[in-house]
Amino acid sequence: PQNHSIAVIAGDGIGPEVIAEAVKVLHAVAPEGVRFNTTDYPFGAAHYLASGSILGDDDLTALATHDAILLGAVGGDPRDPRLAGGIIERGLLLKLRFAFDHYVNLRPTTLYPNVVSPLAAPGDVDFVVVREGTEGPYVGNGGVIRAGTPHEIATEVSINTAHGVERLVRFGFETAAKRRGRLTLVHKTNVLTNAGGLWQRTVNAIAAEYPAVSVDYLHVDAATIFLVTNPARFDTIVTDNLFGDILTDLAAAISGGIGLAASGNINPDGTFPSMFEPVHGSAPDIAGQQKADPTAAILSVALLLDHLGYADASARVAAAVTADLAEGSPTPRTTAAVGDAIVARLAQN
Ligand code: NAD
Ligand code: IPM
Ligand code: MN
Repeated sequence: PQNHSIAVIAGDGIGPEVIAEAVKVLHAVAPEGVRFNTTDYPFGAAHYLASGSILGDDDLTALATHDAILLGAVGGDPRDPRLAGGIIERGLLLKLRFAFDHYVNLRPTTLYPNVVSPLAAPGDVDFVVVREGTEGPYVGNGGVIRAGTPHEIATEVSINTAHGVERLVRFGFETAAKRRGRLTLVHKTNVLTNAGGLWQRTVNAIAAEYPAVSVDYLHVDAATIFLVTNPARFDTIVTDNLFGDILTDLAAAISGGIGLAASGNINPDGTFPSMFEPVHGSAPDIAGQQKADPTAAILSVALLLDHLGYADASARVAAAVTADLAEGSPTPRTTAAVGDAIVARLAQN
């Protein structure tokens, strides 16, 4: 049989709850002759508090041997002073994205039957955000001087390299060309003129290679207007790390809930394993109560399958999720009940 080894980082909060369902689906959908061997890794806030280690070089070496990574969510109790400053987010999640050169953060949004969007008339919403994953203000370039004084100065300098922007924009054009051929660059070129200039020039240059893709541009503030008033106008949004983070939580809300939004942290070159995770976080407010919607984690499995070349299996997962949502449920379901219902649908077709 064809074996694939998948690293599973369930993480914190609702992470283990939603990942349990995602792993059920992964095994249930494996095509004839294909096996997904999963290896659990304990990384997260609890592991850090117990061991003093977040993610070491040996851990990265171990993770690098897998074909892909499935991650739940990380981030512990926000009131715990030992976890202050986002050390888990930076030391685990961002470290993985940077170390494995996940320069494409792919975040699709669509409407599902029977799922109520908070927008009264959202129209035909089906777009993907191609978010840069390894640069921007996320890189930790900055610091604090005169900390705690009235003269404190805090900086986070956004890094945008020609190489980094070029490869992301190129991926955006490839994505748009396979979709409806509309690419929207979102930035803030009227204020962030240095980075904005690089992004705009890069898009202009690569656009010449893709005559079939139409290109437009929106400032990020205006983009939030149109995402609410006319989200159907978007096909492929290309944007930087921070804007992409913000826009994709908005996008998830438009589709009817953060519990539905999946993402792929992709290393298109295949040098490192790509990593698939729901857009949402560890949701400490509902953790441990079987209240979390595992749909986003399950749809992240669909993205993982697609990445590994199993387009049919990926489509089966997406179809089972769509059917599950379409049928709906008269009463709220537990996390496990949603996963079981989707696994049952996979068994039927
Ligand atoms: P969050 O996404 O965890 O929660 C925001 C709101 O959405 C909460 O009300 C939560 O209950 C709800 N929610 C989230 N996922 C849900 C699901 N599957 N089903 C139903 N409701 C869901 O964002 P936050 O509260 O800003 O962050 C909490 C922690 O998670 C922080 O430590 C943050 O840094 C971390 N975080 C991690 C990731 C990640 O691991 N990829 C992503 C975002 C936030
Ligand atoms: C996400 C999260 C992360 C991000 C945080 C937890 C570092 O919000 O995956 O959207 O900002 O990218
Ligand atoms: Mn986010």
